[in-house]
Amino acid sequence: MQNEIKKRLAELDKIFDLKSIQKRQTSDPTSITKYYRLNRLTYWLLMDRGGSVHLSLDGDYLGSAKLIAKLIDKYRPKTILELAAGKGANTKYLSKEFQKSQFFALDLPKGQFNPAKLNQSMNVDADDGDFHNLEGFTDATLDLVFIVEALCYANNQNRVIREVKRTLRPGGLFVIIQDNLTQDNYSSAELLAVKLLHAGVMSNFRERSYRSLKTNLTKNGMKIIQHKDLTENVQPQLERFDNQARFFIRHERFTRLLTKLLPQEITANIISVYLLPALFRAKLDKYEMVIAQKIKS
Ligand SMILES: C[S@@+](CC[C@H](N)C(=O)[O-])C[C@H]1O[C@@H](n2cnc3c(N)ncnc32)[C@H](O)[C@@H]1O
Repeated sequence: MQNEIKKRLAELDKIFDLKSIQKRQTSDPTSITKYYRLNRLTYWLLMDRGGSVHLSLDGDYLGSAKLIAKLIDKYRPKTILELAAGKGANTKYLSKEFQKSQFFALDLPKGQFNPAKLNQSMNVDADDGDFHNLEGFTDATLDLVFIVEALCYANNQNRVIREVKRTLRPGGLFVIIQDNLTQDNYSSAELLAVKLLHAGVMSNFRERSYRSLKTNLTKNGMKIIQHKDLTENVQPQLERFDNQARFFIRHERFTRLLTKLLPQEITANIISVYLLPALFRAKLDKYEMVIAQKIKS
């Protein structure tokens, strides 16, 4: 697997300026929203026409929302907040399924988020916002907060978790679905690969392991009640990613031309899409759902 990562890095190195890409400024809202604005079409073409900007589970782009739905069935939360709702696919689906619950959704302005569209549903209140600061929500008023493939964009994960804990009622749940790094120490090739994986989609490389997530949750008074490995479930999507990325790697000259014609925000996606399956296969990264509960004091 080590060899596969080295081989993929060497192939990518022939096309991209990997040194500059790994140094990209990935954690500031302006770069993140620019990335999502420029990639509206890319995600529409490569992922889902329904507005999902995350991996499908067993081929289903509503797979993550359906996992949240199971929790809603079980715990019957009345107030639910989606952080970093993106194009709103999760909140749209869930607010239709659970019309008696009140949904809130936020994401950064000037990116891919369109709160007015989500607000067409009676039980949705969506607004621009940054998940590091949930000042619009009073203490202990939410029953469930969830975030899909976006906590990885936090430049201060601890602050986000502190805010979530503040706004949750005692016993309330925080659900995080995303890929997490499995280790803290890497060989130089592995380290370059994980840095590029994140730089390619403008997410943050720091605090990306499950261990640091667990530390931040527990030190903020949250108890992990479930830690589920979903890596097998994203396999169909990874196979598609492998094929899509291989096309660009095989057509080296064409892809090099694309890197000259298109913004790096678009072309560097190829790097992440090519490295992700290899990192999952090497078990350096896993797709996971973590459910934490605010401890009742
Ligand atoms: C991979 S997309 C996921 C979108 C959505 N959760 C989904 O599942 O389709 C990541 C989202 O995180 C949002 N995001 C990044 N940093 C954020 C922040 N500080 N506050 C709120 N949203 C943020 C981005 O704007 C983007 O819409």
